[in-house]
Amino acid sequence: MLRYLQAEREHGRSQIWLSTEALIALGDLPARLNALNPPLTTETRVQEMRTDVGNPTLSAAVPASESVAREKARRLREIRMELEADAELVGMESLRDTLVFAVGNPDADLMLVGEAPGAEEEKAGEPFVGPAGQLLTKIIKAMGLAREQVYISNIVKFRPKIPNQTTQNRKPTRDEMAPFRPYVAREVEVVQPKVIVALGGTAAEGLVDYEGSVGSARMQQHDFRGIPTLVTYHPSYLLRNPALSERRKLWEDCMKAMEILGMPISTKQRGFFLE
Ligand code: URA
Repeated sequence: MLRYLQAEREHGRSQIWLSTEALIALGDLPARLNALNPPLTTETRVQEMRTDVGNPTLSAAVPASESVAREKARRLREIRMELEADAELVGMESLRDTLVFAVGNPDADLMLVGEAPGAEEEKAGEPFVGPAGQLLTKIIKAMGLAREQVYISNIVKFRPKIPNQTTQNRKPTRDEMAPFRPYVAREVEVVQPKVIVALGGTAAEGLVDYEGSVGSARMQQHDFRGIPTLVTYHPSYLLRNPALSERRKLWEDCMKAMEILGMPISTKQRGFFLE
């Protein structure tokens, strides 16, 4: 980063603009760079390194949406740290011990919630990266969004254990989900999405306490902490049942979410999975 800034400065640039994602990824790096750079006075640094990446003297220059996202990212990091230090959760015998937190935009309008990480998510440390995750990413794209624009989380943040486990996964139980619920509620409180989508019956049970079928849950609008919540099929269900009729149902739920978000829906999008 320092080399990049120095090269930019040599080319006569005094400012660079960074995306929200980059700002979040940089965290406290600007402060650390300042500490690494004794020859420059604070004033010169501010002027020359006008990266708007967390230097408090520049906060007035940071667009409001970026400072909001940065503050939300900080609060989410705090939740993650509390989870890591929660002896009850970390010590749960029936769950493995690698934390898989959430991924995406801390200031997202759309929040997607699954059940628990599987083998691939545990390996990557990121939710929804296996086959179901790849399908989820395609669905998000079909909605006209990028994976980085939405916030993706799971109710349970550790992979459920199975005896002699290799790559097999299992759904979390109600008892396993219960202690994570307050953390999910805090994630929702920080992100403040305009709509939440629960992916599958287990997520619906964990999030909105719905015990019926996904087929009936998806016909109703639910509420989680005052935020409209939709229930739809889990992408892994679609991998097992790729019938057009099932894909269409999930897509109709996505269009409901788009409507809540006030997103335009093109004729092409309206026609997806109809034939
Ligand atoms: N299924 C989930 O519910 N969550 C993941 O992260 C991956 C698969």
